[in-house]
Amino acid sequence: MHEFASPALSVPLLLIFVLLLLLLLLQRKNIFITRPYRFPTGPPILPVLGNFMWMGRNPVAGLQQMATKYGKVYSIFIGSMPLVVVNSYQLVKEVLMSHDFSDRPYIPLMEIMKQNLGIVGAPYGEAWKRQRRFTLSTLRNFGFGRKTIEERILTEAKVLMETFKQEATAFDPHFNINNAVSNIICSLVFGSRFDYVDQDFQELLHLIEENLVLQGGLLGQICNIFPVLCKLPGPQQRMLTSQAKVQALVDAKIAEHRATLDPSNPRDLIDAYLAEIEKEKGDPNSPFKDKNLSMVTLDLFIAGTETTSTTLRWTLLYMMAYPDIQAACHKEIDEVVGADRLPAMEDRPKMPFVDAVIHESQRISNIVPLGVVHCTLKSVEFQNYLLPKGTMVLTNFTSVLFDESQWEAPHEFNPGRFLDGSGKFVKPDAFLVFSAGPRVCLGENLARMELFLFFTSLLQRFQFYWPDPASKPNLEPKYQFTQAPQPYKMGVRPRNL
Ligand code: HEM
Ligand SMILES: *[C@@H]1O[C@H](CO)[C@@H](O)[C@H](O)[C@H]1NC(C)=O
Ligand SMILES: *[C@@H]1O[C@H](CO)[C@@H](O)[C@H](O)[C@H]1NC(C)=O
Repeated sequence: MHEFASPALSVPLLLIFVLLLLLLLLQRKNIFITRPYRFPTGPPILPVLGNFMWMGRNPVAGLQQMATKYGKVYSIFIGSMPLVVVNSYQLVKEVLMSHDFSDRPYIPLMEIMKQNLGIVGAPYGEAWKRQRRFTLSTLRNFGFGRKTIEERILTEAKVLMETFKQEATAFDPHFNINNAVSNIICSLVFGSRFDYVDQDFQELLHLIEENLVLQGGLLGQICNIFPVLCKLPGPQQRMLTSQAKVQALVDAKIAEHRATLDPSNPRDLIDAYLAEIEKEKGDPNSPFKDKNLSMVTLDLFIAGTETTSTTLRWTLLYMMAYPDIQAACHKEIDEVVGADRLPAMEDRPKMPFVDAVIHESQRISNIVPLGVVHCTLKSVEFQNYLLPKGTMVLTNFTSVLFDESQWEAPHEFNPGRFLDGSGKFVKPDAFLVFSAGPRVCLGENLARMELFLFFTSLLQRFQFYWPDPASKPNLEPKYQFTQAPQPYKMGVRPRNL
């Protein structure tokens, strides 16, 4: 909106406008965009651009006032592509549980980046279903290899604790936590973890992150409206080159695996997928193909590292902000696990308080506030509206995790809401952090194991405190592609056990 606030049209702005019009003519698109019949209302739509300027750099802030102004279901346009935003626990749940809403949109940029392959961005259908089912069963606790997932996480937790010990008394844990969490996916997918200083590893993580930032940013939005831009030189080429570099790194790993493959003894997810390609060679409809393997691999990195590591950083920040709650966690860990061994998954049922703290941290930190965009599979009747096939749908998780009809005083950090009268762990229905329905997060179990094992082993060994006496922990999120805490320094005291 602010971009259009200036009354004086400057020359560069005019030039840009003329250029955009030319691009549009090249693509033979409609200049005037209108809402379809019986479509949810929303802000006025600009010719050509739709509402995209309203989104700005931060879609969460950009759409802030819309729900109050236009109601629980409203629409905006990204260029000419309609997008409906759905608010409140009841309505979001209805969308998520329905197969009719389980498609993913056909966004130009995703197509160009091959992100419609694999799982996260794949259209609803047999190919998605089979690859999702395969990945889920391969990632199950005892899916493959001699090492269980629990052991893999604990191995990494030990390394993480060592790095914490070697840091100064106050430091930013971001880098170490990111590496530890990424290494879990590396271990499962590549069969081995990386040293935190490994060049390939750091480059891979850096490129994946850079790509997400670029695609989610202004440049990404513009390319979605004017896909021809992807064929022209300019800064937008960075997205394509960094995607190509990631692909090359992953493909090199796949080639290494193929050269040493023993199909009867898969070491990791890549081996298992290669064996599946072999097995289904005769089936012309099989989705198990090389191209899809590299995208499945990337999907797990993109969906599984930033999310989990951001959640851990939030949880530690909340522990510094609420030292009493941290002390209660210490007490439960000491009673159930003691000091002589690492925590294990079988401890979790005996640790309802720690479990409640992790869940409440996840709820209040709300790291994926608008989820992952869904899309209607066919024309759908919804709340007296008619949404044509291919309408993009955003589920507003803020309106779910802070829904006043579901949570008492939702803005308070209160782990007690996950405990019943006798102190047993309970999970309210509106805890939709991992989404729900056919597209529910594929890594939910893995993420919950990671959060529990990393958090309890760190708290078993350390006490965390806010090191700066002149300030308080800042609990205001900063939006990237996930809602992350502001960078912080953490005080660490080894516990005398
Ligand atoms: C705290 C950590 C995590 C959170 C909060 C989280 C949350 C989510 C959410 C909200 C979605 C979108 C679901 C939808 O479209 O409605 C999703 C999808 C997905 N997540 Fe996670 N996730 C986490 C960790 C992981 C991990 C560790 C993995 C890797 C194994 C993973 C893999 C996926 C995949 C593959 C999808 C796409 C599913 C599909 O489209 O069929 N996630 N996740
Ligand atoms: C999401 O819901 C919250 C809480 O109801 C609201 O403040 C916010 O504006 C909504 N965001 C969008 C994008 O509609
Ligand atoms: C790869 O997977 C996607 C979606 O998961 C599917 O649409 C596509 O057909 C698959 N590719 C091949 C070559 O089978």
